[in-house]
Amino acid sequence: MKKSLCVIFSGVLLASCGSSEEIKYEQYLVNGEQHYLKHCSNCHQADGSGLKDLYPPLAGSDFLNNKELVICLIRNGMSGEIKVNGKVYNQPMPGNKQLYELDIAELTTYIYTKWGNSKEITEVSSVKKTLGECKTKE
Ligand code: HEC
Repeated sequence: MKKSLCVIFSGVLLASCGSSEEIKYEQYLVNGEQHYLKHCSNCHQADGSGLKDLYPPLAGSDFLNNKELVICLIRNGMSGEIKVNGKVYNQPMPGNKQLYELDIAELTTYIYTKWGNSKEITEVSSVKKTLGECKTKE
């Protein structure tokens, strides 16, 4: 096992580096961060704080309670008025047709670990299932 894999990631300390599941989780976080910085942080900011009245925050967002909805909006975007932590936003968010299901799984794992307080992998199989059931398809 390479010692270099045992890194501290954004405050998530992986206590041991023994299992392949932990290494997979770490890979998802590292890749997820890359996707986030490439596709999301322009608007939501690298620290997830959002931008003024334009772009809602992900950090501390009550919207994250519905993971299915989040997976669908990453793929399909959204428009119309929404409330995040009681505050109204109303700007269109573009979808991401180019992302693979694996990319979305990594992104979701990253977002929920960093801001959704869930220390687990969002599996590709559950992304696939959720995407098949999205109500809004643009
Ligand atoms: C062009 C700017 C823009 C980009 C890029 C963008 N978003 Fe958004 N996002 C928005 C806006 C605007 C809303 C609110 C949509 C509305 O008002 O209907 C939103 C809403 C959200 C929400 C639900 C509300 C909340 O704050 O919890 C989540 C989750 C989210 N975006 C995640 C992402 C992720 C993940 C990415 C990258 C794949 C991304 N966004 C890329 C602008 C953007």
